[in-house]
Parts: sequence; structure tokens; C-alpha cells
Amino acid sequence: MRILSLAIAVGGLLWAPGGYTVQVPTDLGVGSKTGLVVSNSDIASDLGAAVLARGGNAVDAAVATAFALAVTYPSAGNLGGGGFMIVRTPDGKATSFDYREVAPGRATPTMYLGQDGNIDRSLTAAGYLAPGVPGTVRGMALAHQKFGKLAWKDVVMPAAELAEKGFPLSASLARGLNNELRSEGGPMRRFPASVAAYGKPGGGVWAAGDRIVLTDLAASLKAIATDGPDAFYTGPIADRIAEDMAANGGLITKTDLAGYRAKERAPVKGTFLGYEVISMPPPSSGGTALIEMLNILEAIEIQKKAQASPEALHLVTEAMRRAYLDRARFLGDPDFVEVPVSRLTSKPHARDLAKTIDPARASSSAELGKDIITAGQAPEPDDTTHFSVVDKNGMAVSNTYTLEGGYGSHVVIKGTGILLNNEMGDFNRKPGTTNLTGDIGTAANVIAPGKRMLSNMTPTMVTRDGKLALVTGSPGGRTIINTVVNIVLNVTAWKMTGREAVDAPRTHHQWLPDRLQIEANGVSEATLAKLKALGHDVRMQGTQGSAQSIWIHPITGTAFGVADMRSDTAKASKPN
Ligand code: DON
Repeated sequence: MRILSLAIAVGGLLWAPGGYTVQVPTDLGVGSKTGLVVSNSDIASDLGAAVLARGGNAVDAAVATAFALAVTYPSAGNLGGGGFMIVRTPDGKATSFDYREVAPGRATPTMYLGQDGNIDRSLTAAGYLAPGVPGTVRGMALAHQKFGKLAWKDVVMPAAELAEKGFPLSASLARGLNNELRSEGGPMRRFPASVAAYGKPGGGVWAAGDRIVLTDLAASLKAIATDGPDAFYTGPIADRIAEDMAANGGLITKTDLAGYRAKERAPVKGTFLGYEVISMPPPSSGGTALIEMLNILEAIEIQKKAQASPEALHLVTEAMRRAYLDRARFLGDPDFVEVPVSRLTSKPHARDLAKTIDPARASSSAELGKDIITAGQAPEPDDTTHFSVVDKNGMAVSNTYTLEGGYGSHVVIKGTGILLNNEMGDFNRKPGTTNLTGDIGTAANVIAPGKRMLSNMTPTMVTRDGKLALVTGSPGGRTIINTVVNIVLNVTAWKMTGREAVDAPRTHHQWLPDRLQIEANGVSEATLAKLKALGHDVRMQGTQGSAQSIWIHPITGTAFGVADMRSDTAKASKPN
């Protein structure tokens, strides 16, 4: 909808300069002036919206939604993981909350190397050595303490009641749980408390529509609702986590839990073609890389190329390649290493990088990053979830949180119903070894006790002239930043509506492996051939991300919930 910014909506039609009319796209999403929630679970979105209807603000609704997703979307929604939240208040001020997990006190830089000196990926794929100290409960409490209007208990208790009463399984959750629990190699199978929590009572396989009741999780949520986050970090839940860890060779202790702190941080900000972009600073690499890419693309006037043309795809890929190289070089926990965020997000740095891009030829990642590549050849799991909230006053929340892989470490802590993350795999596990496959070994993200592992999560907001334009973010491991770049470009450079921007095929290049990924059927054969001729190793397959977004109509100010159709359970709340 290129003409949208020039056009005024009148009923089902648009009036544009020149006097002609065009059909409004039939599907802008769910529109609301009174606030809405878009998440990966219809039940969680509606529960969050009910908090808005009771007089809660966007942060109250976000906290309620996060706890509800821990019930209805257990592959990624969580109490035992971590993430990031951006909050923008109606006066235009923005802040961020970092509730990323940290390495336990007894963690060491080489704890995931096998006897052969190579990364033993099984250790971070599942089990008691995989989790970092969880941050979600402290993160929600910090955001709520600063901004919440309703009582803490009133925003946490609805999720507890949902877990206690149970809810009907979606087809994908039934499938996911059956896969976790299958007798041959089901990842939860090794962990009796996980089977007790998520197995079908009486045995057998789950079917869509079956009601699942999560009794222990309900009790944990009630304790958190009643006694606050200390129930998790110093109270009975902490005791259970520490006991279970000690009994099974895990590292997390009561001291680790008691010492965990969520942090408020200044967001990273950039500008792009007159828009302002607000996103997550380190220890996420998301916001820094996002702004770096947008700056490069502004310097080469990307808006002058047609959306999804081979020329545009080539230039966007080259920007991705360069920002991901800087990510590998410099990004880590800012409390442990110096991260040159201002330089990386500056216009001069982008102009320098833009000069190295050949419009007629793909660059070589190996050549560009040869100073840090130490080895040849030697993949990243998939599950995280993003949700977006806007309330009636225009306060907005963009939240991405995760257990890392689907169902995290697959470990439920006995007696709590709480699944723990496997986020430790986001550290650079083999210090000093950066290879062509994409393993990174730079110092900035090497394990140290109490350190946060580098993330890609990119909860983001875009504003124009002080007004909110977009709230977005996505799961997808290292593809996250690029999913957000794709959507932001679609809305800003190419003036698409939120619905169009989220639906449009996505692309990904992460420096190494040196490969351009495009979603299945994302471009024509002719475009594919052109990209190959430019020297790109292109694969067109699968889908990328799940960006539960809110787009604000630039003229009417109506917020449209845009659930990402790539997920069969994602939904915008019903309008209040
Ligand atoms: O923080 C990160 O970048 C990853 N742990 C996120 C994992 C993820 O997105 C998996 N999801 N699909």
C-alpha cells in the first residue's frame, strides 16, 4: 500500500490526491482504539485484553499475558526462562527491561566442551547443565513495579486460575507435547517430573481439544501472585530448584537465585527515513544490529529500489552480512565487556560499511571477517515467543522472551510445574574458535559466572513525529533480527500496512554460514536466478519467525493487531 501515507481512509475506500479511490485492503488486522494484545496464544491474548478492560495499562496486560503464555504456550512462554521488554509511555518516553538469564556461579568458559575439545551440543540441548538462572519472574516484577496500575496479585492470578482450571489443547500444542513425550526419544522422557506435568493422565496421546490441567504450575503461580517474585527467588520455589539441581548434577544454587537481578536499561535508538526506531540494547544484539542495518540501508537509499526486487534483496543481504559480522566481533554482556554500541549504531560507521558494498556482486563473508575466523566447517534450535500490547492511552509494550529451544532444557523442576530454559547454549561455547558454519568464539560472549549470554531477541517499536507506528518482534534464534529488519523496512521504506509487512516473505543472512535464506515461494524463479548471478548462495525453504505485531494506522491512529499467520495459534485479542 504505497499510497497509504498520501491517502485518507473513508469507510471501505481510500481517497488519494488526484481524487481517485482504491479499495482498502480487506484485511488490516483487528482494529482497536481501546487497546489490544497480540500473542502466540488466543487464550493469552484474550486474558491480557481482559486486564486492559479491567482498567489495567499496557504493562499490567503484558505481565498478565506473559504469565498466561507460561501456561498455554509452554514451548516458549515461561517462568523458567528470560527475555526483554520495551515500554513506551504515552508521553513518548521509552525504556527497556533486561531479564535475560545469567550463568550460574559455578559455570566455566569451557564447561560445554567434550573430551575431544569440541562443543558437546547434547549438554546444552537438554538436562540440568543447560539452564541459566531464570529472569522472567524478576523481570515482570520490575516492569510492574515501575509502571503497573493494578495490584501484582491481580495480574498474576488469572494465569494461576487458567493453569488450575485447565484449557483445551490446540492442535499444535497437542502435537508438540506428544513429540516431547513419545516413548522413542521424546526429549522430556528422561525427566520424570516433566512427564508427570505434561503427560496425559492415564497415559495415551494428546489430541486437539483435550483439556490439560497444570496443578503444580498453578500452585507456583499462586505463590508468586501472593508472595511476589521472592517466592521464586528466595522462597519455596528456589528451594525446589536448588534441591533438584543438586540431585541431578545441575549448577544453579540458592545463592544464584537469590542474587539474580533484572535490569532497567536505556533502549538503543536510531532513525531511519524520518522514523525513530527503539529497540533492545546489549545483552541482546538485536537492537544494535537492527539499527546498524537500517543506517547502512538509509545510506544506500534502499527506498529507491522496489520491495523484494533482486536489487533490494541484494543490498539488504549485504547490510545483514556486515551487521552480523560486527555482532560476532563485539557483542556481549555490557556488564562484563565493553560494547561499542554508539559507534556501531552511528551514521558514519554505516556510511563506511555502505562504501564496501558492491551493487553488482555479493561480498564474501569469509573475506570480510577473516581476522576473526579461526576454523573451517563445524545449527540453532527454534522457540521463543513475542507479543505486543497497546492500551487505550497509547502506552505500548513489546516483549520477547524464551526458553531458548522448544520446551527449553525439557526439565520440569519437581513439584513446581516449571520448565527451565537451555539458554546457556547462547554463549560462545568454544572460546577462540569462530568457524565457517557460524559457531562464534570471540571473547565478548564467553561464559563467566553471573554473565548474561548474548541474545538476538529484538523487541522493537517504530515511531514517526512522536507517534507510535509499529510494535513488533519475533522468535527464530539468529533469524530474529532479520525478521524485524524485514518488517520495519516494509512499513517504513515501502509504506506497507502492518498486515502486508508481516505477511511478506522474509529473508535471512547471518554472515556465516555465507548463505541467503528466503522463505519458501518467497521470490520468483527470475529473482532467484538474478540473486545467484550476483554470487549469493541462496536457499528458498521453510518459514522464518512469528512476529505478533501491532501497526498503527498513520492517519486514523487506530491500532491494528497483526497476528502472524505463520503460527496457527497466534491471535490478536478480541477488541475491548
Ligand atoms: O536469545 C536468543 O537469541 C535465542 N535464545 C532465542 C531462541 C529462539 O528464538 C528460538 N526460537 N524460535
